[in-house]
Amino acid sequence: MDYTTQITEAKEKFGQVLSEQLNRVEKMKAEKDFLDFSTLDKIVIGVVGGDGIGPAITEQAERILKFLLKDETEAGKVEFKEITGCTIEHRAEVNQALPDDVLEELKQCHVILKGPTTTPRQGDPWPNIESANVAMRKALDLFANVRPVKVPEEGIDWTFYRENTEGGYAVGSKGVNVTDDLAIDFVVQTHEGTERIARAAFEYAKKAGKTRVTCVTKANVIKTTDGNFLSVCKEVAKDYPGIELDDWYIDIMTAKLVDPKRRTQFQVLVLPNLYGDILTDEAAEFQGGVGTAGSANIGKRYAMFEAIHGSAPRMVQEGRDIYADPCSIIRAAVMLLEHIGYADKAKALENALDECMYTEKKLQITGRDTGATSAEFADYVMSKLS
Ligand code: IPM
Ligand code: MG
Repeated sequence: MDYTTQITEAKEKFGQVLSEQLNRVEKMKAEKDFLDFSTLDKIVIGVVGGDGIGPAITEQAERILKFLLKDETEAGKVEFKEITGCTIEHRAEVNQALPDDVLEELKQCHVILKGPTTTPRQGDPWPNIESANVAMRKALDLFANVRPVKVPEEGIDWTFYRENTEGGYAVGSKGVNVTDDLAIDFVVQTHEGTERIARAAFEYAKKAGKTRVTCVTKANVIKTTDGNFLSVCKEVAKDYPGIELDDWYIDIMTAKLVDPKRRTQFQVLVLPNLYGDILTDEAAEFQGGVGTAGSANIGKRYAMFEAIHGSAPRMVQEGRDIYADPCSIIRAAVMLLEHIGYADKAKALENALDECMYTEKKLQITGRDTGATSAEFADYVMSKLS
């Protein structure tokens, strides 16, 4: 068989990927430092309801934020901006993962609170567009996906720093079917991309008084991209003398997270995109599942805070969206407050939520009319704040 044509076409596509990624590297080299919120006259908080149960739960987190930031809003120091177009219907209609008009509105904000958005899969009635989360992370360069998991009574206190713009996700929709038999995907790692996530993890560790950062890769097999990720982390570690860096492979790490004796030793974990995606779902399960976890997507200019679960369209079809669990997006709101410089309010909300979810538990969310509605639960949380 002569595959010259197929190989030439594949090389062409590979060439395009390379030039796009090299451009991205140039942009990263030119990027400024993190936005300093204390220098802003006004902080604009965008609220993206998303679709499925998204609008129902996001509305509750927004009510709580407005309650906590009432004085600041009245004084014009904080402004809320509703962004409604990030629904699967609109995305499908314009055939864009993140419609241009939505992106324009997002760029007018400093931080974004985002409900879940539907990611079409094969067989769905929607065009097979990319996930809105992934598109938003790329478009706003939200490179650090920060996911905390805590189970105090078991000594679990982990903060994951998942690289959020590279790895298998950078060009996840640009793989090549070279022939009917051969398919190739691309995994991207850059020095700048790894350095900034490693530095973010170490900076957090330093600020939070942590003594260990754990790098998780599969560098024994994926020698180039993962190998470089690990060596850049080692380089960055040299700037943080009081903090130890240890390195683990993803397979044994997934095992050790379920080992009650070993798992308490982990504090801050830094890892490439896909391993971070998988490990953070496993980790969240210890604290009650992905519905209980919040997630911050942080870049130098923008940051987005989201629930880590999906949009559960079935709940809406069955008229149960008013009973959807708002805890994950309220956790995201905690991280948002912390990020924009309201650490005290963030702590107060975190304590109130912990009390409602884990200790007092006066209301239960069951996802049906056997439990509280999201609005009742949000009122319950707010009753602990006044
Ligand atoms: C997450 C999600 C997304 C991801 C999906 C929805 C594309 O699983 O935020 O972890 O893979 O990053
Ligand atoms: Mg995930």
